[in-house]
Amino acid sequence: MTSKKLVSAKQTKNDEFYTQYYDIENEVKEYFDFDPLQFRNKTVLLPCDDPDWSNFTKYFAQNFERLGLKKLISTSFAPESKNYKYPVQLSFLETNSAQFNKDKTNTHGKIFILERDITGDGRINYDDLEWDYLEGDGDFRSDEVRKLRDEADIIITNPPFSLFRDFFSWLIESNKKFLIIANKNCITFKEVFPYIKDNKVWSGHRLWAGGMWFETMNPDDVDEVVDGVNMKNIPSIWLTNMEHDRHHSPLKLMTQERNFRYSKHKEIRGRTKYEHYDNYDAIEIPFTDAIPSDYEGAMGVPISFLDKYCPEQFEILGLTQFGCHDGLPDIRRYNEYKEVRTSDDKETGASGAKTNENAVLEGKGTKKTYYRNAEGRMVHSEYKRILIRKRK
Ligand SMILES: C[S@@+](CC[C@H](N)C(=O)[O-])C[C@H]1O[C@@H](n2cnc3c(N)ncnc32)[C@H](O)[C@@H]1O
Repeated sequence: MTSKKLVSAKQTKNDEFYTQYYDIENEVKEYFDFDPLQFRNKTVLLPCDDPDWSNFTKYFAQNFERLGLKKLISTSFAPESKNYKYPVQLSFLETNSAQFNKDKTNTHGKIFILERDITGDGRINYDDLEWDYLEGDGDFRSDEVRKLRDEADIIITNPPFSLFRDFFSWLIESNKKFLIIANKNCITFKEVFPYIKDNKVWSGHRLWAGGMWFETMNPDDVDEVVDGVNMKNIPSIWLTNMEHDRHHSPLKLMTQERNFRYSKHKEIRGRTKYEHYDNYDAIEIPFTDAIPSDYEGAMGVPISFLDKYCPEQFEILGLTQFGCHDGLPDIRRYNEYKEVRTSDDKETGASGAKTNENAVLEGKGTKKTYYRNAEGRMVHSEYKRILIRKRK
């Protein structure tokens, strides 16, 4: 893949980001180490892949026996159906095969299957991959790929970001185990958050900080070139419903008193209490490591808390955005307030309704805008917060 020449950077929805081998290896290893039975005798489907070149196909084919898989299926999306077009580099595996068809290669997806030793060397590995063209273009929403999904036990991939909501619903509807890469923002999508809240989907093992590096096919949007390969850093995370140890490791926390005395955050040190929201019966905790161990009520914490979420330690009540916090209803609305610019205290023309259901604190705050009512009462909104409560 590295020698591909890239063209046409003018596409808006570029989904052509390719996952690095070591990211896949490091992640999958954690689930295997936690419980090898998660893979034993299972059929793994890798949809939205590019099996000729993909590190997903490579990793699972190379580790087929070690993981104890029953079958590996990998499917690709036809080059002509992709949003972002770049010159296709055909693999030797394809061009040297009897079934190679130079028209189909552009218009059809491909399917790669690994389940038996065809080389006769007594092992099942990469050399035993068999392939063919799919009937259609390999769209994950097609009946053809849906059928493969239904045959699989585990679905693993880095899906197209532009179709993330569709892909996630497709996964959920399958009721299968999965491990996928997603943009960090997706956690707050209303299609995704309820599953996180109910602990049906959770963060993968890899820590969120630093984003992930992908090989990009767009030469005009590159963050770094490594050994001649164009790389892009994207704030991505793994999302899963498979088990790994971090999912059950409680956060080590200090009491409120110790936070006010020893917190590494100057915003917390020296305080005598945490601020209480104006519109939720909960306190504002601006840093995950400042969550107190001895507070029994509801707390609003940064989204990145989900990176450390242990369901045995905390219960998730909701998210401070429209319709996502049934577990902790908001108790005040700001329809009669006006939005005001902090720099000159002039109204922007927007209504205070804009901040309804956000995490709202009393006072002017330090953000670019705040909200003021006719009596001069001021409030401001915090970043999105996850609403949580300690389990008894
Ligand atoms: C983010 S890339 C990841 C590729 C590969 N899984 C990897 O990580 O190396 C997503 C892939 O999905 C493909 N894709 C886009 N829309 C698709 C669709 N509707 N059905 C199947 N694949 C699709 C893109 O062309 C792209 O190759």
